[in-house]
Amino acid sequence: MSSSEKNGSLDASAGASVDVDAVILVGGKGTRLRPLTNNTPKPMLPTAGHPFLKHLLARIKAAGITHVVLGTSFKAEVFEDYFGDGSDLGLEIEYVVEDQPLGTGGGIRNVYDKLRHDTAVVFNGDVLSGADLGDILATHREKEADLTMHLVRVANPRAFGCVPTDADGRVLEFLEKTEDPPTDQINAGCYVFQRELIASIPADRVVSVERETFPQLLQEGRRVYGHVDTSYWRDMGTPQDFVRGSSDLVRGIAFSPLLEGQTGEELVDPSAGVRDGVILLGGTVVGRGTEIGAGCRLDGTVVFDGVTIEPGAFIENSIISSGVRIGANAHISGCVIGEGAQIGARCELSSGMRVFPGVVIPDGGIRFSSDQ
Ligand code: GDD
Ligand code: MG
Repeated sequence: MSSSEKNGSLDASAGASVDVDAVILVGGKGTRLRPLTNNTPKPMLPTAGHPFLKHLLARIKAAGITHVVLGTSFKAEVFEDYFGDGSDLGLEIEYVVEDQPLGTGGGIRNVYDKLRHDTAVVFNGDVLSGADLGDILATHREKEADLTMHLVRVANPRAFGCVPTDADGRVLEFLEKTEDPPTDQINAGCYVFQRELIASIPADRVVSVERETFPQLLQEGRRVYGHVDTSYWRDMGTPQDFVRGSSDLVRGIAFSPLLEGQTGEELVDPSAGVRDGVILLGGTVVGRGTEIGAGCRLDGTVVFDGVTIEPGAFIENSIISSGVRIGANAHISGCVIGEGAQIGARCELSSGMRVFPGVVIPDGGIRFSSDQ
């Protein structure tokens, strides 16, 4: 771990300005998080009290990078409406919109004209990571690399880009979502690019950086290196990962500069009403104007704004969208409840169920068979 990061937190010396651009890819549709992403892009979902992307922007700022370009497509306007020119965060944020999604490589190529420096750090906009950006940039410089990828080791490498390296850290292959990965070392979704490499990506057509650009750069013999570390890492793309990532932020297991000094078992917006005898644990977060009745127990759960939960409900490992109403003594485990849905009293919902926006489940609904 570098001198600029201890236990995942950046110290003041890391605030010095760094001459690199940050590019964040936020154009995906977030399909695996539907219906949460029907109207809200994945990076804007409330996570530990803030839109997810704000945690990443704060991390970029803490690393001394100030110029950020967002590559947007799906629901592009939502980002600019919220972050504006970035000055509230001490950043300068620019937006480049793809009318039709150009893929990850096309999205990177599309921001080329906005880049100001020879080096750009490109981020997937849905990754929660404790990696030290200064360390990744240092590896890039030491290796005199054309491209440096942040790599982590995971239990399920098939779901990611598998990236074997040699003893010197040089990348040997890039195998996107392969059935038979040769290593558990994967692409963590953060790259340091030399600018001229970005110019070489074809413009104005769909390009996958993982399936097309990376294999091609390797074939050309470019200097592509991996930076491997053991920092916190999670792709927030599924409901399970989303609730876990949010809860890890609330508990301080994952670090965000936005939550310094406020971590604990729960994070409750000051405008929320939490009645007597409510138990909140496991990094549960409660949003603005939400009301939680007496005797409820919420464990590892993300509750958005304006939700009403009646007395005695039990909710674990779930995401409850804005405007939802949950009846008394309902039991909800591992579910996603869409905006404005109404779950009746004593309902029992579990096993990854997704309730779509506005759906009404009557009192005592959806009980489960013995195998649940
Ligand atoms: N601008 C733009 N345009 N952004 C896009 C587009 C597009 O057409 N398509 C996807 N993105 C953005 C998404 O919003 C997300 O932030 C990022 O690119 C990655 O897309 P995902 O859909 O989340 O990909 P993934 O999680 O399946 O796989 C990627 O990330 C893994 C690490 O989390 C790959 O890069 C894997 O190799 C990697 O291991
Ligand atoms: Mg992802």
